[in-house]
Amino acid sequence: MKRVIAIYPGSFDPLTNGHLDLIQRGARIFDELVVAILRNSEKAPLFSLEERLEMLRESTTQWDNVRVDSFAGLLVDYARERGAQAVLRGIRAVSDYEYELQMGWMNRKLDPSLETVFMMPAGAYSYLSSRLVREIAALGGALGGLVPASVESRLRERFRDAQPAPR
Ligand code: PNS
Repeated sequence: MKRVIAIYPGSFDPLTNGHLDLIQRGARIFDELVVAILRNSEKAPLFSLEERLEMLRESTTQWDNVRVDSFAGLLVDYARERGAQAVLRGIRAVSDYEYELQMGWMNRKLDPSLETVFMMPAGAYSYLSSRLVREIAALGGALGGLVPASVESRLRERFRDAQPAPR
């Protein structure tokens, strides 16, 4: 029987509840879901690759068919290496669509056999992004419901001296 493997690529800096929602949905429809962090030397991430891998591992133990990994270079090459037939990406709002469509088309040009599958997270996460989470954490704001508890404590640790923004 054919096993369908999908890659869910991203920066995950940090992992949010929106990412986890998508992982849960992907784990339901694919036989194996590989959550893969891009090793990107250009961007200076808030969390190191090791920290991001650890947070993902800690938060995905409940799914037997979810793997956590990192990759460098082209996504299509990594997908081929892992024997994956699909790439999973989340679309929160119309504003995500243009960028995601461009990437999907380009990946199809690079490897026509690789399908991109778009899924929507729960509506409650439609405004959630790693960038906003980093900003809220840096300014001492409340993170409840936005990130898993292990990510929240790491963010608090990272911005220990951050004070709530003056009103
Ligand atoms: O979480 P992000 O930052 O939106 O994820 C972007 C990511 C990692 C999916 C994208 O940058 C990517 O796939 N990079 C790998 C390099 C590559 O294949 N580039 C061509 C894509 S069209």
